[in-house]
Amino acid sequence: MAIPAWQYDEMKQAGTDYEAEDEIRIYDERMSRLRDIESETAAIIETLGIGKSSVVLEYGTGTGSFAAAVSSHCRQVYAVDISAPMLTFAGKKAASMERKNIEFIRGGFLTYTHRGPAPDFVITQLALHHLPDFWKLIALKNIHDILAPGGKLLLKDVVFSLQLEKYEKTIDYTVQAMEAAAGSDTGANFIRHIQQEYSTFDWIMEEMLYRAGFIIDQADYGELFLTTYVCTKDQTR
Ligand SMILES: C[S@@+](CC[C@H](N)C(=O)[O-])C[C@H]1O[C@@H](n2cnc3c(N)ncnc32)[C@H](O)[C@@H]1O
Repeated sequence: MAIPAWQYDEMKQAGTDYEAEDEIRIYDERMSRLRDIESETAAIIETLGIGKSSVVLEYGTGTGSFAAAVSSHCRQVYAVDISAPMLTFAGKKAASMERKNIEFIRGGFLTYTHRGPAPDFVITQLALHHLPDFWKLIALKNIHDILAPGGKLLLKDVVFSLQLEKYEKTIDYTVQAMEAAAGSDTGANFIRHIQQEYSTFDWIMEEMLYRAGFIIDQADYGELFLTTYVCTKDQTR
């Protein structure tokens, strides 16, 4: 189907340029320093109930760490990202781990067309904030349409739960906390995130999830604005 002229161009990176090979390498190194992907994945598998027969679709797969980790616990992974160099990086990682049940596909929240069995689970981490709010809701609606009946969505992203009166102090504090924990480049990355990317407020995100047809089963408001929603596709809507 032709893309309308008014549609948001999601292939253009907002904020950090994940088309740049240096940026991709730096991102992967930073994430392996800051995150324990194996235990994050184990927690996601347990929370969602992913099993050997499950089909998993990940949007914004990035350097492919989650896709590679989850692939040995399920039947099939579809790993979608707008960045061709990211997909090449992720593909090499999966090949080095001999993971054969991952299909890497260039596409995005707005333009990906799913071919294959409907996913039981959709996961997206640190990616939806690349879309402005109007398009976030369209993206969530697309996810709702793609999911198998009763399917689940795990959405993890920077989402702002803050007191408006204190927003400047809170953001300054967060930048400092990131610099102290992980170095000045991580602080600079967060500054770029706030300046140029589209993270939104918790109450907006929650209303959007509802309007897209999801029931929010769980909302975890973590440190540094990292929020995780576990949702079920509401089949009545
Ligand atoms: C911050 S990285 C997150 C990567 C990975 N999910 C993680 O948790 O480390 C954001 C990724 O989202 C991708 N991305 C940006 N806009 C997108 C869109 N509209 N649809 C799908 N992926 C997108 C970028 O190319 C990048 O690989």
